[in-house]
Amino acid sequence: MKAVVLYKTGKPEVLTVSDIPIPKVKPGWVLVKVKSFGINRSELMMRGFEGDAPYIQLPRIIGIDCAGIVTEPSDSGLRKGQMVVALMGGMGRSFDGSYAEYALLPAKNIFPVDTDLSWEELGAIPETYFTAYGSLSDCLQITYGDTLLIRGGTSAAGLTAIQIAKSIGATVLASTRKESKAEFLKSQGADHVLIDNGALTEQLYRLYPHGIDKILELIGASTLLESLKLAAYHGIVCHTGMLGKKGTLDGFDPIKDIPNGVYLTGFFSNYPTQQAIDAIFKLIKEKNLHPVIANVFSLNEIAEAHELAENNEANGKIVVKIE
Ligand SMILES: NC(=O)c1ccc[n+]([C@@H]2O[C@H](COP(=O)([O-])OP(=O)(O)OC[C@H]3O[C@@H](n4cnc5c(N)ncnc54)[C@H](OP(=O)(O)O)[C@@H]3O)[C@@H](O)[C@H]2O)c1
Repeated sequence: MKAVVLYKTGKPEVLTVSDIPIPKVKPGWVLVKVKSFGINRSELMMRGFEGDAPYIQLPRIIGIDCAGIVTEPSDSGLRKGQMVVALMGGMGRSFDGSYAEYALLPAKNIFPVDTDLSWEELGAIPETYFTAYGSLSDCLQITYGDTLLIRGGTSAAGLTAIQIAKSIGATVLASTRKESKAEFLKSQGADHVLIDNGALTEQLYRLYPHGIDKILELIGASTLLESLKLAAYHGIVCHTGMLGKKGTLDGFDPIKDIPNGVYLTGFFSNYPTQQAIDAIFKLIKEKNLHPVIANVFSLNEIAEAHELAENNEANGKIVVKIE
């Protein structure tokens, strides 16, 4: 089969297609014919530097999610030919992932789906929708009438959060560093756009002088302390992303840094469940949601796909479709 094997970390050019044997199925694992997958930030990090970490063993087929068809179900109870999505749980990190024609995956990370969406659209969904949906529902408990700030609104997760939150009846404020992307964010449903240029606090207080109900923090540790201060009394901040490239917060002082009556939570997509995947596909169907797809590439174009993701101009999900 054709597969993108990461032999060493580096720039997108280190990603090339190799011919390797199709993996052999074993108990507890399922062989999936990969039809499409999304490009995710964590794969850029894996390719760029994380592959050198002591807990990663190269060579590794990267890729943390995919959509495809069960070809060998083993003892999983899944059916041959069943349409599935798969994500996380060590995929593309501790065992080979989705950047390949076939992926051998643990049964617990594979979820049947019943949908009319195309393979391109399905490839855009597993990790991004699970992250946006999980952050909004489990963590932020988003509900009709809430005001929500999405910090990092132009990211694939941010755009997905905009559409989910709007479909639930929230008022959405979305941020970007670039004024040129404001119209795009509005076209995607944002009620207000804030420019993350050092004066975001002032822009938000002009609209909501008492702060905002819910904040989805996708920039991460570099903006978290400011976001905590923007939450209204009994507001919730969900720390989900690290687009600002800072994952941890040195000197974090919970007593002083979390304002009285504000709640801080975090989302980690490592533990998907069938229940959550079913809820996501139900919402997609009921609200007629469609992922915002920036580009579709072939497996041979994997380096270009990573390059586009890295230059931050995609404005949507980058998908790889395997014919
Ligand atoms: N917690 C979890 O389990 C989980 C799961 C999935 C994803 N994530 C995280 O969620 C975030 C979003 O992921 P994604 O794949 O949706 O991202 P993405 O689509 O690749 O995001 C692209 C956007 O990121 C913004 N950006 C890039 N560098 C930035 C910086 N230094 N400071 C501020 N903004 C920056 C740019 O926005 P502008 O140019 O418009 O400002 C760009 O439009 C990532 O940090 C990812 O690691 C977390």
